[in-house]
Amino acid sequence: MGWADLKKYLTILDDQFMKFFGTKAERFFFAPGRVNLIGEHTDYNGGFALPCALNLGTYSAASKRADNKIRLISADFDEPCEITLDDILEKSHNWADYPKGVLAEMLKLGCKIGGFDFYCRGDIPSGAGLASSASVELLTAVTVNELFDCKIPMRELVLLSRRAENDFIGVNCGIMDQYAVAFGKQNHAILLDCLAVKHSDVPLDLGDYLIMITNSNNSRSLAASEYNRRLAECQSALKILQQACKIDHLCELEISAFEECKHLITDQVLLNRATHVIHENARVLQAAEALSAGNLAVFGGLMNESHISLRDLYEVTGMCLDSLAAAAWQVEGVLGSRMTGAGFGGCTVTILHKNGVENFREIVGELYRESTGIEASFYVAGIGAGVVEV
Ligand code: GLA
Repeated sequence: MGWADLKKYLTILDDQFMKFFGTKAERFFFAPGRVNLIGEHTDYNGGFALPCALNLGTYSAASKRADNKIRLISADFDEPCEITLDDILEKSHNWADYPKGVLAEMLKLGCKIGGFDFYCRGDIPSGAGLASSASVELLTAVTVNELFDCKIPMRELVLLSRRAENDFIGVNCGIMDQYAVAFGKQNHAILLDCLAVKHSDVPLDLGDYLIMITNSNNSRSLAASEYNRRLAECQSALKILQQACKIDHLCELEISAFEECKHLITDQVLLNRATHVIHENARVLQAAEALSAGNLAVFGGLMNESHISLRDLYEVTGMCLDSLAAAAWQVEGVLGSRMTGAGFGGCTVTILHKNGVENFREIVGELYRESTGIEASFYVAGIGAGVVEV
């Protein structure tokens, strides 16, 4: 849906809030999803990434309560959750663990939170690598921050949302998703320095081109355990390289320095993981430069290289994402196409000529159906801003 239908969305939120909680909602917020253009699995290695916020996202309606009850309802999942401030740390093992994890982190910081009712509803396909989890985390963080006037700065909300995902949910993700959801800028990508946790805006002047997101509709099985395994492999590779180099993160190594010490890594899998990370990090900087210079062909080529590296070295693509990327590479008007997000299922992101949309859907849809038996879904991405009160 997105901003164009905002008014309609707010009416629905208002009505549903009244239906479930019997009162009017006090405040409304929106947190986007994100699409990462390039820079995959670099964030937890202290590198760069180039995401943008989408105008798809999650909306909340919320009101304070006089008691210490917290009622959480999502239109997208069946399980409503009613807790008190005292049992926030008990896991629900469903969607409500995302807001709960965030609340737990806010309480740790000493925020004076009382009871409240919270209703949310989103239009990001969930589990598709478009940061639907980070969207709910930041949405909760900002809603509660504003409702109770906690005055936590946005950057700290980003960091605590990541801690919620690491410690409460158990996925050892990096900072990219939460950061992009918070600090995305309309019609811009953000060049995110994940080590310094800061960014610069890069205008997305795509001229006759647009960003096409293709959802493989292949659920991301084993994503959390495989993701955590990749992180552990990177840490093992780092430990070996630290015998020769003074570094705390893989991405501190330039390609030339890596070439000199990579012989120390004798395990081929670990070598492949480190090679991906260090080259991907370099690609992000080249891609940001190409984008700023309006050189979309170079940008697209780097996206293709990124996919191949994620396929062959990092091994997070899988048959479905590989079929989508390979199909896209054949279509006229495509400058580049790659998986986006953690991988193991989810979406690809493609830079496509605006006249080629129908052709793209037809050819990619057909080739993908032939090779997997699954219907893909297509979204022309609108690049929106970060989390906001509406
Ligand atoms: C997920 C994580 C991010 C990042 C990407 C891969 O989206 O949440 O922190 O590691 O995977 O680039």
